[in-house]
Amino acid sequence: MTDPTGARGNGAPDPIAHVRPATPAERAEVHAMHGANRVAWDEAAERYERWLPEAIDLISSGGTNLLPPELELIGDLHGRCARAIHLQCAGGRDTLSLWNLGAESVIGVDFSPRMLELAGRLTAAVEAPARWILADVLDTPHDLDGTADLLYTGRGSLIWLQDLDAWAAVLQRLLTPTGRLVLFEGHPAEWLFDVDADGRWIATDYDYFAGPEASRGWAPEYIDHLALADEDQSWKFARAWTLGEVITAMLGAGLKLEQVREHPTDWWGGHGDVRPEDRGRVPLSFSVVARRG
Ligand SMILES: C[S@@+](CC[C@H](N)C(=O)[O-])C[C@H]1O[C@@H](n2cnc3c(N)ncnc32)[C@H](O)[C@@H]1O
Repeated sequence: MTDPTGARGNGAPDPIAHVRPATPAERAEVHAMHGANRVAWDEAAERYERWLPEAIDLISSGGTNLLPPELELIGDLHGRCARAIHLQCAGGRDTLSLWNLGAESVIGVDFSPRMLELAGRLTAAVEAPARWILADVLDTPHDLDGTADLLYTGRGSLIWLQDLDAWAAVLQRLLTPTGRLVLFEGHPAEWLFDVDADGRWIATDYDYFAGPEASRGWAPEYIDHLALADEDQSWKFARAWTLGEVITAMLGAGLKLEQVREHPTDWWGGHGDVRPEDRGRVPLSFSVVARRG
């Protein structure tokens, strides 16, 4: 599977999934595309509900859902992070992993009511000092400005956003003067590769510069099938922002970039079928550490 939107696989269209380029009229309406995504993510929260018991066990036992490169970048937060803000926090499992790493309090922002309802249930079960804010990330409330000692985002968040300049401006305003942004994301090159029956990397027909596309249905490795049939789900809009677009938006907002790294880490478990000798050859994720400029 090439990407977690579930739109493409093995170079051939999935008979159930639907994918098409966004029309020029759709592309012009950022908030309408985000509105459709909000409905799609509320539908997908069904899958996260099934993960809630695991999430409660993980967080209450002091564990973390974060991947090794994220742990290396974030480090030990004890005594150095009064507030961590997690943008696009979904059901709060990664957010509360930051609490377990030592953040004194955590705030998660997401636009899906059903995801935040799950985050609330997780918080109640583990008695965490967490606050959940229902908002489009582009409209993150201004009372959070200048309050993030750690601003964390990633793991499949950026592809849903349709205005990166507006997003980068939010990052810049949320950080404290000494705060750090840690972003860990799927690499856009991931969409260019799939795996053949022998486990070798092959090229997909994805156009790296295509911009937003609309899809229905999800990758079975990630969300899997929902109670709602794919053809009855909301269209959702995603795009593999190029590395250049991401970095340029961050620089444009005035952020001071400290490091940009590319990783072979399979961040969503979509490439388990790659043969061992081919693992590590393709960038599947990237990270950025930055401070407010
Ligand atoms: C793949 S998840 C984020 C990764 C997270 N680590 C997880 O547990 O899967 C994407 C999240 O982004 C949220 N989201 C997508 N677009 C958003 C937007 N414009 N504003 C706020 N939340 C958004 C979705 O509701 C969803 O919870």
